[in-house]
Amino acid sequence: MIEATLAHAEAMAAVHAAAFPPAESWDAAAFATQLAMPGVFGLIDPAGGIILARAVADEAEVLTIAVLPAARRHGIGRRLLAAAIARAGTMGGVMFFLEVSDVNTGALLLYETSGFVQIGRRRRYYPDGSDALVMRRPITCGAAAGG
Ligand SMILES: CC(C)(COP(=O)(O)OP(=O)(O)OC[C@H]1O[C@@H](n2cnc3c(N)ncnc32)[C@H](O)[C@@H]1OP(=O)(O)O)[C@@H](O)C(=O)NCCC(=O)NCCS
Repeated sequence: MIEATLAHAEAMAAVHAAAFPPAESWDAAAFATQLAMPGVFGLIDPAGGIILARAVADEAEVLTIAVLPAARRHGIGRRLLAAAIARAGTMGGVMFFLEVSDVNTGALLLYETSGFVQIGRRRRYYPDGSDALVMRRPITCGAAAGG
């Protein structure tokens, strides 16, 4: 797992572009802007995955997570998430939040099996009209270690 720096913005954008539809993908400038913000950190799996997260005070959140299509279902997403949760814990985080489209079955399963529970729903939140599910898990519970 590599700690992302501004020098990785281009590489992170390339993974993101391969993982998301064009209208939803973030370019290198977006990653650079995010990485320069307080509390934001990025982790890179050289096998083809990235996660960007933010930890401020006792709350942390996933900003984005993406794995190259050809590298999926090999545990990269789960390891990135676990590593980000553990990292947020070292930064003082107590609760970890994320949002996911209710039609993104794969991501939802990843989050549910990583200990996240739904705490809210934002109706028609995404451009495709799908709802966003707001999920959270305590940083210190069970399966946070690893990554
Ligand atoms: C969501 C994403 C990051 C998962 O990455 P990944 O490396 O494939 O995830 P993992 O291999 O760690 O999967 C962990 C578990 O999540 C679930 N899961 C992940 N993708 C799944 C899919 N397409 N269908 C069903 N279950 C899936 C499974 O339970 C899986 O465990 P298993 O393979 O042992 O059955 C990846 O599919 C992706 O980049 N998607 C496009 C971008 C995106 O939707 N990001 C999330 C936005 S909230």
